[in-house]
Amino acid sequence: MNQDKVILTGDRPTGPLHLGHYIGSLANRVILQDTYKQFILLADMQALTDNYDNPLKVRANILEVALDYLAVGIDPKKSTICIQSMIPQIAELAIIYLNLVTISRLKRNPTVKTEIKQKGYGENVPAGFLIYPVHQAADITVVKGTLVPAGEDQLPILEQANEIVRSFNRIYNCSVLPEIEAMMSPVSRLPGLDGKAKMSKSLGNALFLSDPEDLVVKKVMSMYTDPDHIHATDPGKIKGNVVFTYLDAFDSDKNLVSQMKEHYQRGGLGDVIVKKRLIEVLNNLLEPIRARRSEYAKDPSTVMKILFEGTEKTCKIAEDTMKEVRAAMYLDYHT
Ligand code: TRP
Repeated sequence: MNQDKVILTGDRPTGPLHLGHYIGSLANRVILQDTYKQFILLADMQALTDNYDNPLKVRANILEVALDYLAVGIDPKKSTICIQSMIPQIAELAIIYLNLVTISRLKRNPTVKTEIKQKGYGENVPAGFLIYPVHQAADITVVKGTLVPAGEDQLPILEQANEIVRSFNRIYNCSVLPEIEAMMSPVSRLPGLDGKAKMSKSLGNALFLSDPEDLVVKKVMSMYTDPDHIHATDPGKIKGNVVFTYLDAFDSDKNLVSQMKEHYQRGGLGDVIVKKRLIEVLNNLLEPIRARRSEYAKDPSTVMKILFEGTEKTCKIAEDTMKEVRAAMYLDYHT
C-alpha cells in the first residue's frame, strides 16, 4: 500500500458505463485499488450542471453506475465509493475557490469550451456548468487527493485545479492543499461501434457492460469494418477497422490477432469470422461482470449501504480538511 498518494477519481452518473469506460478507467481502478488509497466519486452535482432539468436521470444512474463499479471488481473494502451531493464540504470549498478564479480563465478552459460548443450553450451557458472545473478542484482537494487518473480531456481541468491549489496556499500563506498529479490512462480512447472517434452513450454507438449476450452479438455484427471489403476473398484494411481495434484492446491472444490481421489484409478472411472471435472475447470478459452485476442488482439496498458508508467516511476526511481551510482563512470563529 502506497499511503502517501491518494487517488480521487469519479464519473458523472448520467448513464450506464460502457466498454470505453472499462478500457479507459475502470480496469485501471481495479488494479490501482491494491496499491493506493482510492476514492471514487459519483459526481451527481456535476452531472446536474448540464442535466438540471432531468434530476431523475441522475438519481437513477447513481445505482446503475455503482452496480457497474461493483460488477467490474471495484471492492468497497479497498476503494471508497461516495456520493458528491452528500458531501457538503465540497460545495463549501467550491464557493471558497470561486474567489480565486476569473470568469475569463473559466471561459478559456479548453475542455469546457469544447463542451459549451457541443451543447450549443453559447453565451447562455449555465454558471454552474462554466464553473464545474472549480467544483472538481474541490472534489479532489477536499480529500487531499494527489493523484488523478485522467484521459486527455481531463488535463485542462487538473491544470486549472493546480492553479487554484497554488493560489490558495500563496494567498492564505499556508500549505494546506497538496498539488495534484495527473496519471495518464494506459489506453487511449476507444472508438464507437460505428467507427466514430469516441464511444459514447449520446452518440448511440456504445456497448454497455450490462448488455446481455445476444445484444453483444447484435452490436458486434453491426460494427464498422472496412467498407471496401465486400467479399471474403478481397484484401481488407486494418486501419480504422473497429473490429480489429477492439481485438487489439481486449484479446489477450496477441498471436492470433496478428495472424488474423495478416490473413485479412492478404484476403480470404471474412468479416464474420473476425467478428465471431470478438464476440467470444467480449462475452468472456463480460460474463463474470454480468454475473456479479445481477447478484448485486437483486439487493439495491445493500449497494446503497455501501455508498452511504463510503460517503460517511469521505465526509469525515473532508471535514478535517475544511477545518484547516477555515483556519487558514480566519473562518474558525469557534477557536
Ligand atoms: N469530470 C469527470 C467526467 O466528466 C467526472 C469527475 C467529477 C471527476 N469529479 C471528478 C473525475 C474528480 C476525476 C476527479 O468524467
